[in-house]
Amino acid sequence: MPEESALDQLLKSGEFLHHLDMDRKTADLVFDRRTIKALYEFMSSQHIDYVDFPISAGKESVVFKVIKDRKPLVLKIYKLSTLRFSTIWKYIEGDYRFARERINRSNIVYIWAKKEYTNLHEMRKNGILCPRPYDFHKNLLLMSYIGTKATPAPRLKDADCDFDNVYSEVRGFMRTLYQKAKLVHADLSEYNILYHRKHAYIVDVGQSVSREHPAADYFLERDVRNISIFFTKKGVEAPYEDLLRFVKGADAGE
Ligand SMILES: Nc1ncnc2c1ncn2[C@@H]1O[C@H](COP(=O)(O)OP(=O)(O)OP(=O)(O)O)[C@@H](O)[C@H]1O
Ligand SMILES: [Mg+2]
Repeated sequence: MPEESALDQLLKSGEFLHHLDMDRKTADLVFDRRTIKALYEFMSSQHIDYVDFPISAGKESVVFKVIKDRKPLVLKIYKLSTLRFSTIWKYIEGDYRFARERINRSNIVYIWAKKEYTNLHEMRKNGILCPRPYDFHKNLLLMSYIGTKATPAPRLKDADCDFDNVYSEVRGFMRTLYQKAKLVHADLSEYNILYHRKHAYIVDVGQSVSREHPAADYFLERDVRNISIFFTKKGVEAPYEDLLRFVKGADAGE
């Protein structure tokens, strides 16, 4: 595949510019030279056939549906231009799993992709529903696609579902994450949970930290608060104190 074609495919997507209201300037920022090179290398080594469409374009990452052997996958690209060192550093410093990495301003975003890969792997090992991570390269992460042929799964915020059932699944995942995977999500909310085939899938775990991280309790309490507020608004009985006790409680495994 010639180098231009990966980039061309990304940029020529009319939907990309139209639906996501992303102007040329922003697109330029996303696909800086290092990212284009990494993209070309990754698409070749992973045998990705083509980029289907962008699922999401946010401040710090762009997520694409891509096709490999006629099957959909998801490629997440962390933006080198906007992921700030100071933002990332607080989630890496203090996480003993990454203490041996040589981290500096130019490679920290690469550690981020590796961190998300590692966290997804750990979560799946413990039975938490989330995308399956396939591989990472520089600031790119390849994972399984959550959604139907027609559309990616909606975020919980936009989902039409039985919130009582989803709450009990989510709180179970939160407890497993904390007690078995020994991690704290650190950005958990209705924006980072997808609803697919009657189940909740946890996404966006680049910032998730080990339970040993000095700010783990602070992150956990914030996650619990977000989840409690969201489900309470949906009419579910989900008080903050109960959820926190359930997640941290010594009674796991019952
Ligand atoms: N594996 C996946 N399958 C389907 N959709 C996905 C997948 N991963 C992410 N998405 C979609 O892309 C959105 C953004 O992904 P994610 O939350 O991981 O990135 P983000 O770091 O929040 O990005 P930003 O900072 O740019 O908002 C998700 O809210 C979800 O809608
Ligand atoms: Mg997100």
